[in-house]
Amino acid sequence: MDNADSGLLVKMEIRHLIKFAEKFAGIEVHLPVSGKFIKLNYSSDHFVEILRKLQQKEVSEVYVKEVDCRRIIEHVEKAMSSSTFYDPKTMEEQRVEAVNAAMETVKSIINQLGVEPETVKLLKTINSRAMTLLSESPSIFSFIKQFKKNCSEEFLLSILTNYIMALVIDKFPWRSEQVKEKGALASMMCDMTLSKDDFKIMRDWQKNGGVLPENLRRHPSDIADSLKKNRLLIPIETITIIEQHHELPDGKGFPAGINANRFNQLSAIFIVSQQFTEQLHDASYNYEKRTEIIQHIRTKYGSAKMFEKALDALLKVVD
Ligand SMILES: [Fe+2]
Repeated sequence: MDNADSGLLVKMEIRHLIKFAEKFAGIEVHLPVSGKFIKLNYSSDHFVEILRKLQQKEVSEVYVKEVDCRRIIEHVEKAMSSSTFYDPKTMEEQRVEAVNAAMETVKSIINQLGVEPETVKLLKTINSRAMTLLSESPSIFSFIKQFKKNCSEEFLLSILTNYIMALVIDKFPWRSEQVKEKGALASMMCDMTLSKDDFKIMRDWQKNGGVLPENLRRHPSDIADSLKKNRLLIPIETITIIEQHHELPDGKGFPAGINANRFNQLSAIFIVSQQFTEQLHDASYNYEKRTEIIQHIRTKYGSAKMFEKALDALLKVVD
């Protein structure tokens, strides 16, 4: 987020923006040139044409006014909620690209402006569309193939975590769509501040150990703290999951090193679902390894009651 004469400017990636750009005529586009923001004067052109011209010049990001950024969010939300999203003529690949572009865009906007009602609404729509795409897929494995090709690894992992978590929640008597949504928001936001490189360092550390840089150790509490400022928009259960998603019941997790009795059942379900998804991903989605993976998670988490219950439910889901 930067200041310009016209007020706050929000950074947007052109390659994502262009997926929804058809109706954005009239939006001002700003570019940083020698430390100043220059407003592009393409008044007779449509937004999409401006973006394409910039892409040809190898510009990958533009800045738009805050008010225009909100118009973009609204438009993306409408596009994703409309029946044309389900038009049989729309290829699955295009839908996958669209949900991924929407996710990358909303994540970047939340990192710059904080959460707002419109961004939270869009996150929920993205999750619901991704779940629909998954359920319409001939199999979970063809879905993974399609998503692997067309979207970021972090988004694929988040969507699969939400899918597995929803099935695990269904094994509990207190199951509800609202509870699933609270967990889903957590998976979409829990690594929100990490860059692509940070995410890679984090995943390598999870696989191989070593020293984790301090800023990465802090990401759960940094994100949770910023969301606490908007307590009315983000459920407390979602914030708790984000805070705890790298904690361990033996107290050796991070950032706070909490002990086993501080986890609630939903956090434990989230953590085992996320661990299962990540380890299955690392095993190249070899489903034969599912019980081995659950056993591995049990060794790390299974000593605590909440995790034991979550793992028993997960085992029923994958068997
Ligand atoms: Fe994380």
